[in-house]
Amino acid sequence: MLDLDGSTPGRAMGTQIFCTDCHNSDDNREFGGSGPNGPHGSRWTHILERRYEFSRSVTPGAQISNLFPSPDLSVNGPYALCGKCHNLSTVENSTLQNGSWPAHYKHINDGFSCSACHTAHGMGASSGTITGERLVNFDGNVVAENGSSPISYSHAANTCVLVCHGVAHNADGTVGKAIARKGLWSRSKH
Ligand code: HEC
Ligand code: HEC
Ligand code: HEC
Repeated sequence: MLDLDGSTPGRAMGTQIFCTDCHNSDDNREFGGSGPNGPHGSRWTHILERRYEFSRSVTPGAQISNLFPSPDLSVNGPYALCGKCHNLSTVENSTLQNGSWPAHYKHINDGFSCSACHTAHGMGASSGTITGERLVNFDGNVVAENGSSPISYSHAANTCVLVCHGVAHNADGTVGKAIARKGLWSRSKH
């Protein structure tokens, strides 16, 4: 875990992370500041220790109104909170570095926040309300159902079924423009 300066190694990672590793005063002493430890207050939303921007859209499936294209991956950037423990260049480049998901690079550089796809809290192994695995649980304010199929992510097939940013993602791995009718999205025939 890096200190608030984004470069000095802080407390070593153990077998657990704590609520206060994310929810903490933005100037706490444990990670190199001069203020009190603990979630007493922060200039960042949700009493988060560092900056974390969430993708937003007017309705689920519609255009994202606050894209961060080619984001600053430093401690000043929109995903500084995640960068406390994750090397964001490795995550962004996971195509090259560890191949977990080839489209990571494209989505992060097109400006989508981690929050569109990942929950920061844990998720159960199986539940009707989660949409994937490995902390992939789409933000229901941003992502919509594709036709009548439930929002889903398949790690095995590396595909998603959903509509996001006006784009339909289909089970066969293809993507295309989506159209909204009476609040429901469907694939455009064009
Ligand atoms: C990896 C970072 C991380 C950890 C660890 C974490 N949280 Fe959070 N928490 C977040 C983020 C990001 C949000 C805001 C987004 C959301 O609501 O999902 C949040 C939101 C919340 C909220 C809602 C706050 C609001 O303003 O609506 C509560 C309450 C909360 N967390 C409590 C906890 C508790 C209790 C723990 C420990 C058991 C914990 N969190 C651990 C990142 C974290
Ligand atoms: C306090 C340290 C810490 C912070 C902050 C943190 N993570 Fe993590 N995260 C971890 C650790 C440790 C693991 C590895 C857990 C394991 O290997 O079992 C992990 C794993 C993950 C995974 C992979 C899960 C899997 O099952 O393979 C994802 C995705 C992830 N984090 C996303 C995020 C995002 C997004 C943020 C910012 C909101 C974030 N993390 C912030 C410590 C952190
Ligand atoms: C468009 C959706 C999407 C966005 C945006 C996204 N991720 Fe992911 N992420 C995924 C998927 C899908 C996987 C692969 C999960 C699996 O292996 O099943 C993944 C994997 C990961 C992993 C695990 C291993 C690795 O390094 O590839 C981490 C850590 C992670 N993401 C962090 C982040 C962080 C931090 C951000 C924001 C800077 C982010 N992700 C943005 C969808 C997304």
